Amino acid sequence: MTTCDSTKTLCPYCGVGCGLEVSPQPQAGASGAGTNPGWKVRGDRTHPSSQGMVCVKGATVAEALDRDRLLYPMLRESLDEEFRRVTWEEALEAIVHRFQTVLATQGADAVCMYGSGQMQTEDYYVAQKFLKGCLGTNNFDSNSRLCMSSAVAGYVQSLGADGPPCCYEDLELTDCAFLIGTNAAECHPIAYNRLQKHHKKHPQMRMIVVDPRRTPTAEAADLHLAIQPGTDIDLLNGMAYLLMQWGYIESDFVEHHTSNFESFAEVIRHYSPPVVVDRCGITVAELEQAARWWGESRRVLSLWSMGVNQSSEGTAKVCSIINLHLLTGQIGKPGTGPFSLTGQPNAMGGREVGGLCNLLPGYRHVKFAEHRAEVEQFWNLPAGRISPHWGRTAWDMITGLETGDVGVLWIVATNPAVSLPDLERVKAALQRSPFTICQDAYYPTETAHYAHLLLPAAQWGEKTGTMTNSERVVTLCSAFRTPPGAARPDWEIIAEVARRLGFTDHFPFTTPAEVFAEYVQLTQNRPCDMSGLSHDRLHHLGPLQWPYPSNPQSLIPHPQPPKRLYTDLQFPTPDRRARFIPCHSRGLAEPPNPDYPFVLTTGRLYGHWHTQTRTGRIEKIQKMHPHPFLEIHPRDAQKLGLQENDWVEVRSPRGTARFPITLTRMIAPGTVFVPLHWGELWANQAEANALTHPHACPDSKQPELKACAVQLVPLKVQQSLQNRNEDLRLLSNR
Ligand code: SF4
Ligand code: MOS
Repeated sequence: MTTCDSTKTLCPYCGVGCGLEVSPQPQAGASGAGTNPGWKVRGDRTHPSSQGMVCVKGATVAEALDRDRLLYPMLRESLDEEFRRVTWEEALEAIVHRFQTVLATQGADAVCMYGSGQMQTEDYYVAQKFLKGCLGTNNFDSNSRLCMSSAVAGYVQSLGADGPPCCYEDLELTDCAFLIGTNAAECHPIAYNRLQKHHKKHPQMRMIVVDPRRTPTAEAADLHLAIQPGTDIDLLNGMAYLLMQWGYIESDFVEHHTSNFESFAEVIRHYSPPVVVDRCGITVAELEQAARWWGESRRVLSLWSMGVNQSSEGTAKVCSIINLHLLTGQIGKPGTGPFSLTGQPNAMGGREVGGLCNLLPGYRHVKFAEHRAEVEQFWNLPAGRISPHWGRTAWDMITGLETGDVGVLWIVATNPAVSLPDLERVKAALQRSPFTICQDAYYPTETAHYAHLLLPAAQWGEKTGTMTNSERVVTLCSAFRTPPGAARPDWEIIAEVARRLGFTDHFPFTTPAEVFAEYVQLTQNRPCDMSGLSHDRLHHLGPLQWPYPSNPQSLIPHPQPPKRLYTDLQFPTPDRRARFIPCHSRGLAEPPNPDYPFVLTTGRLYGHWHTQTRTGRIEKIQKMHPHPFLEIHPRDAQKLGLQENDWVEVRSPRGTARFPITLTRMIAPGTVFVPLHWGELWANQAEANALTHPHACPDSKQPELKACAVQLVPLKVQQSLQNRNEDLRLLSNR
């Protein structure tokens, strides 16, 4: 919605999806070129999800709009050459030529696109249609693979479809919030604020936090279970054991609305309290308290994010959470349900539009012939065009570069040279890529260093499109300024390449509203039905939640769908029942051992976002978190002869990194923590992912970024705290 001087839009950082109101601030000595003034950002009080609140990221986002922007396409023949500025015409010709060569010599499966939850739904849609439809390869994956693909797989296995069934109002209606593997206070601040306010107002409400670290979220809990890394399923099954023993089963619900209870009970039998507390490293009293509170509470809401998802048993962890909800009938009612908090602003939209290499638009799956046929028909493509196989996941794109099976890698709005696991291997693979396109708003980035072609993307505020947040609310994000230089919206660039490759009829779009209008038809009668939405409606009515089926008679669907999914306790499985998925605990993929005796866990900080592409360029946030560090328990530090701020080299079987240490009792002995935000551009040798491994969940293919085994070697000489690597900057800028 745009009035004469302010534009309503969405915060482009996290999946909470706070509404923002942006207005020009012409007097503010704008650094921008010509027509772009400075911008004032404040929370949009009318946005249903955030009600006017914002965190430091949302509040400062406009400050990065004109910092280090990539303004023009830049091309080079090989990675040891310098970039030269080219026109869009030359850039597009280079892509078309490369695609034609690769398609002719290696086939469509040698083409890969790696996108992100920063893309708007329209960008995602055009990319799916181009790769999965026109070219016939499912090699589109997004960085959501690293973030919440386990949540997707878990929801599908247990409930029959993806889609968090809850809404933020549930944060204010619950009697018991069970947070596991989520530091929501720092990573989802505004959703957490809503929970926290409710908690303060209602002292009888229980808040349980499960986390190996005593995070700010855990500090606020009534019960903090500091379990050993990798023992989540032991804990969840142990709680199920007690709930069953104490008779907290909602038998009516289990009998009429679930399946597979018998085999679940058979597995749970093995998780008696003595076994569980021993593995988890907690007391029987703590375990009993958690189970008691879950069982006694009228309304239980669970919340989780990457601490659960980023695991070699991520899907099993998600299913184990949902099992508890099914056992106790805690779903489909206000204040209840299994609620996965999404990471990125439009990771939810990405799931809806099929933005992972196993999905198709409208929560469809490439493995189902019926789903492929529906999409082929809708796209006017010959039957059989869409491949029945998973495309390459983010990690498989890297191994494809290693084996020479990837001929072109097109990266959009993400920074894999920092965010993928086992970075040394990733960089070596990128180094030998025959042709890498890096499409981003900013330059330099760590990944741009490995690109042959840089394409300048219009970013937040410079293009119009939609995003879906964690509670299924779709917001129209309107442009309020012109893109700098020659930057263009992602969807436009991809559509232009597709047209030049001969798919003219499939990409007639001239506006993002047209793209959206086509896409929503593919959601009709699907669980994520939003066929009643259009840019126009979103513009006039403001943010709207799906399901939102079309109703030709009126702007409002009738009857108005409920705010929560599954209120009728009918699930989108063949027998309409939710499924118990019994899971045994397998523990960490790489447990500590005598050579690598510590468990390293990684995570985020309040002010920073991902790899700092934006937040590294905002002074206030830089000051808040000036440099990376390693958190260690004083007892472990003492054993190593280390004091506060001493430097330590962290070694894993794959790589090394160096950090000054921070002593804290908030982490258990045997475990250390480093933040994930520092790539080569922002610090020397401080990459969390130089250490992590790519072992992934067999169901979701999500790597276990949350834990690996490391050794710590004290460094005698103090290192430079330089927080921006000028060498790499210069190298990239050559
Ligand atoms: Fe933006 Fe998330 Fe902060 Fe809201 S909580 S302002 S969406 S970063
Ligand atoms: Mo995620 S960061 O929810 O793709």
